[in-house]
Amino acid sequence: MKNIRIRNLEEEDLIQIAELAGKCSPMITEKNSVYHLFTKFFKRTSFVVEDHGKGIMGFLLGFISQENINEAYIHLLCVKPGFKKEGLASCLLKNLFEVLKAAGCRRVFLVTNPRNKVAISFYKDLGFTEYETDQTMNINGLKVARDYSGPGDHKVVFFKMV
Ligand SMILES: CC(C)(COP(=O)(O)OP(=O)(O)OC[C@H]1O[C@@H](n2cnc3c(N)ncnc32)[C@H](O)[C@@H]1OP(=O)(O)O)[C@@H](O)C(=O)NCCC(=O)NCCS
Repeated sequence: MKNIRIRNLEEEDLIQIAELAGKCSPMITEKNSVYHLFTKFFKRTSFVVEDHGKGIMGFLLGFISQENINEAYIHLLCVKPGFKKEGLASCLLKNLFEVLKAAGCRRVFLVTNPRNKVAISFYKDLGFTEYETDQTMNINGLKVARDYSGPGDHKVVFFKMV
């Protein structure tokens, strides 16, 4: 992995990240208009990892909350199949945390599907903690926020201090 480079997302990355997101199972694929928001308006808190010749191997889409500028949110973190378990997602997160620290952010949030075991292991191993809401229920030892993303759409809400 000698040639890898992490850089901020650029507008020209739209199609490549949309295609990669399509391979990001079990995450659902968004409309391109959602990726466009990040390539256009959230470049400072969104990153890609690329290898010259191999293109983009992973990306992180994040933003700082407008409701509370001390908080940030990770919308999607994805590493291309074939390049997982090589530390790429950890590097993308590290870059985000550096930017957030400089911006004075205190906490980062994200949500994940309770069935996404890999993501849950990943975030727990990187020091994220389950956030408890009024609607938290316990499923197999996991704190799950009931109806968090709409009726029947339960989520694990994770946070980490910056
Ligand atoms: C979750 C995901 C982003 C992790 O990317 P990655 O580059 O493979 O992660 P890293 O190599 O940085 O892993 C860091 C640590 O996370 C944990 N981890 C990563 N993948 C894991 C797996 N399959 N099973 C268990 N733990 C895992 C390990 O502790 C790992 O450290 P180690 O390699 O020293 O054991 C990647 O699997 C992915 O793209 N999944 C599909 C999309 C998704 O679910 N995204 C998250 C929700 S937004």
